[in-house]
Amino acid sequence: MKYTIALVKGDGIGPDIVTEAVKVLGKVGKKYGHEFDFVETLAGGSAIDKYGIPLPDETVKKCKEADSVLLGAVGGPKWDNVESSKRPEKALLGLRAQLGLFSNLRPAVMYPELSSACPLKESLIPEGLDILVVRELTGGIYFGEKKRTETGAYDVMSYERSEIERVVRRAFDFAMLRRKKLTSVDKANVLETSRLWREVVSEVSKDYPSVEVNNLYVDNAAMQLVINPSQFDVIVTENMFGDILSDEASMITGSIGMLASASLGQSNVGLYEPIHGSAPDIAGKNIANPIATILSAAMMLRYSFSLKNEAEAIENAVKKAIQDGYRTKDICKDGDKLLGTTEMGDVIASYI
Ligand code: IPM
Ligand code: MG
Repeated sequence: MKYTIALVKGDGIGPDIVTEAVKVLGKVGKKYGHEFDFVETLAGGSAIDKYGIPLPDETVKKCKEADSVLLGAVGGPKWDNVESSKRPEKALLGLRAQLGLFSNLRPAVMYPELSSACPLKESLIPEGLDILVVRELTGGIYFGEKKRTETGAYDVMSYERSEIERVVRRAFDFAMLRRKKLTSVDKANVLETSRLWREVVSEVSKDYPSVEVNNLYVDNAAMQLVINPSQFDVIVTENMFGDILSDEASMITGSIGMLASASLGQSNVGLYEPIHGSAPDIAGKNIANPIATILSAAMMLRYSFSLKNEAEAIENAVKKAIQDGYRTKDICKDGDKLLGTTEMGDVIASYI
């Protein structure tokens, strides 16, 4: 089969890490007989530099026409002072909205070999942490009306029932494929949108009788993630709570440079990107960790192209590289084998 993948390398280390994911995909294509066609396009700071705006129509068009999108990272201090409507982050928000990517999957997985990087004290370090955060991605306070008045400012958080239902259903579907435990996070003691959220979760849960459902307030959820992260399987929550909790969950794994994400809508076109940012201070130095992006490519194969074996081949190659002691600088300790970005890509590609 032939697949077209839009590549948004982005800013900072984006080009470094996307190049390695492309290398690994090339190897997968060769081994399994697929053709991956890559179409490069600009978004974020690099688009601001070239076109004066973070998300040109041409970029959206190329992404919509492709079978999926692989993105490195956008943003950096160079664009910190541009006006708010033109910030590089707007490219991400615009792509999510225009591609209808309402559900964001952020797996927080702990690699046993890296567990010592978990910032929790020894007695709290979970064994084999494996959480899936499902974050609503195209609604809520991120996309509500925003305004600066003479004396203040506001951002509106609003949700339609249908917007909640579709992402909650998706979270239940994933819970069914995992340990059948769903925690819905809200602030129903204060927010009306959260009371609606909870109502919808309760209605949808009737279609998934075998899934155990729990509702937590977001402040409590933030605390539980630190004191007992292993209690969670799938967490589903609205856009901003999901932004915050997914950072917290990923940090606990100690593997932030290793975590991938997928943003999916109703069709098969998804946007896949590492959880980490553009790290401009180490851009172009061949030290960034490409693994999160390589694993994002694996998620693409699984969710957009239904290539399960090929996805597993990538995931197993990454596991083997870690087990064999290969590390990029961010995760390297005494006794490990230090590799650059390119060399890590080479090792993983060779293990496919
Ligand atoms: C993320 C990021 C973005 C978000 C920013 C860069 C707009 O923090 O993907 O989690 O808040 O969604
Ligand atoms: Mg975030």
